[in-house]
Amino acid sequence: MNYNKKTVKDIDVKGRKVLLRCDFNVPQDKATGAITDDKRIRAALPTIQYLLDQGAAVIACSHLGKPEPSFDKWAKKQAEKGKDPASLTKEKWEKTLEALCMEPVAKRLGELLGRDVVLAGDVVGPDAQAKAAALQPGEIMLLQNTRFEKGETKNDPELAKAMAGLAGADGVYVSDAFGAVHRAHASTAGVAAYLPAVSGFLIEKELEIMGGALADPKRPLVAILGGSKVSSKIGVINHLLDIADMIIIGGGMAYTFAKAQGGSVGTSLLESDWLDYCNEMIAKAKGKGVKLLLPVDTQCAKEFSADAQPELHDTMSIPDGMMGMDIGPKTIEEYAAAVKGAGTVIWNGPMGVFEFANFAEGTRAVAKALAETDAITIIGGGDSAAAVAQLGFADKMTHISTGGGASLEFLEGKELPGVACLLDK
Ligand code: 3PG
Repeated sequence: MNYNKKTVKDIDVKGRKVLLRCDFNVPQDKATGAITDDKRIRAALPTIQYLLDQGAAVIACSHLGKPEPSFDKWAKKQAEKGKDPASLTKEKWEKTLEALCMEPVAKRLGELLGRDVVLAGDVVGPDAQAKAAALQPGEIMLLQNTRFEKGETKNDPELAKAMAGLAGADGVYVSDAFGAVHRAHASTAGVAAYLPAVSGFLIEKELEIMGGALADPKRPLVAILGGSKVSSKIGVINHLLDIADMIIIGGGMAYTFAKAQGGSVGTSLLESDWLDYCNEMIAKAKGKGVKLLLPVDTQCAKEFSADAQPELHDTMSIPDGMMGMDIGPKTIEEYAAAVKGAGTVIWNGPMGVFEFANFAEGTRAVAKALAETDAITIIGGGDSAAAVAQLGFADKMTHISTGGGASLEFLEGKELPGVACLLDK
């Protein structure tokens, strides 16, 4: 896939309306709706500021959460989850939509920019149209949650055309929503059929750093892959075996690897359907001369609980009734040494249940090793980004991706629709 895409620097936006797709899908406090982490809003600021400074009128948009735009479908899904059908009223459904309105985002964006952000009451309806028409160069507005439109996730061409229409005949589409580039939705991909489409600085940076690390890495390239399931990392492991010099496995998926190698894993997380795949990957690594490191020792617990007391066992012989929760000290030492000798490290997925203090040491130690190495360190979004931030090492990393699913698909070598739709350089 070609990652060499035109950016905002390659197009004259002065006096033009720019439809800007951001990833403002930020975490919110369930009770109050307050934004609990505004990193994704901050990450879009350089592009927004540049566009405003250049004299563009910016029509920003984003999805927020996973609202269900059809009442019937919402009610059906709730009933499937066991909710009493009589309790599934339109009022309740509307409340779920209200909770995902863009007000808190518009407010926070305005605070960070130090200027007013006009909020539209809809996505392509009369309010958005009137506000977009009145928007002047140097001003910014935000559309309502793009997923309030049924056509958004279906990449409906009519919706894409209507969104593009807000920017007018001379409009421009800029995407800076790296976190959503793996989605072929109307606002992330479809709209590029109707407007000249370029990337913002965030997408440019993500592609440059992560793309560079895959295409021409400073070697040795070490990939650390954790998280609970082999099944969600298949594509990444397979693709990185073609590129990396070493792959380090941690987290819940290590137990499926251990079992595949003839180990006993007690009550640890196990994906029996993936045992053969694990052995295939071990064989592929051997064939390619890629070092594949698996944990040798494991901190275990009798139950999945924050209060559970850690008990150390060899990963290949976890006793019955015990489950693996974190990598052990010998493994930490081995993994930290590998990181120390690396030229580039890509990390995706925690080493253990880092949310529980008793089982956070493996993830913390790996984060610390990354913080201390001279290697280029890239954190592939999602849980590992959260772990690095929570453990206080965020500012020590070369790059922390703003994409969760998007960075995973990037590491899998998949085509990203939100990137493919942009103009080539
Ligand atoms: C994310 O949070 O990873 C992106 O915003 C994409 O969100 P989605 O998984 O709801 O498409």
